[in-house]
Amino acid sequence: MIRIRRASDSDLNGIHRVIHAAFSIEESAVIAPMVTQLLADQNVPPVLSWVAERDQQILGYVAFSPVHFETVEIGSAYILAPLAVLPECQNQGVGSRLVKAGVLDLQDRAVDAWMVYGDPDYYGRFEVTDAVGAFFVPPYPLEYPFGWQAAMLRERPLPSKPIQFACVEALCSPELW
Ligand SMILES: CC(C)(COP(=O)(O)OP(=O)(O)OC[C@H]1O[C@@H](n2cnc3c(N)ncnc32)[C@H](O)[C@@H]1OP(=O)(O)O)[C@@H](O)C(=O)NCCC(=O)NCCS
Repeated sequence: MIRIRRASDSDLNGIHRVIHAAFSIEESAVIAPMVTQLLADQNVPPVLSWVAERDQQILGYVAFSPVHFETVEIGSAYILAPLAVLPECQNQGVGSRLVKAGVLDLQDRAVDAWMVYGDPDYYGRFEVTDAVGAFFVPPYPLEYPFGWQAAMLRERPLPSKPIQFACVEALCSPELW
């Protein structure tokens, strides 16, 4: 049985195995150090990481990290990055379960919005849209602007105009964007 649970420091090796298997060598070279940093991040609000596990083997990983706004119009928001599932375990709903567990947790924490930079064909199923994404301006220029999406989580109006945000240290590399 596949179980979704919070990630801890001791999962680092298993998560790295997933990252190296799911992404290309070039992508892994950027994403693996990001994951190490995300797991070590002790700031508040916290980075929220999840793993999918079966028989004590980690099959998938997702992290949601907080973003920071200069305006108070939006109280809190998180960005999903990265999401990965072992190739042999893909297309079995593991990625979806990881995303849904993370989003449900954000809702429980009364977070206002979440955002993601990835394939709309995949992430569109989680109710993020480019229309909402346009209200949140990332800290770096995007190589693939069509992949920028967001969703509001609560009965809260959209910002009155697009607002810039800053991300956690682990995501502060232009090559991630
Ligand atoms: C993207 C990923 C996490 C999905 O995990 P998963 O466990 O296979 O996802 P699910 O089983 O929940 O969903 C599978 C569905 O997503 C689709 N899908 C998977 N990757 C996709 C992609 N990059 N673009 C569009 N659709 C994709 C599958 O075709 C399948 O579609 P269906 O439901 O219509 O049959 C996994 O494919 C992966 O690790 N890929 C490599 C790393 C990566 O690209 N991560 C995302 C970076 S933003």
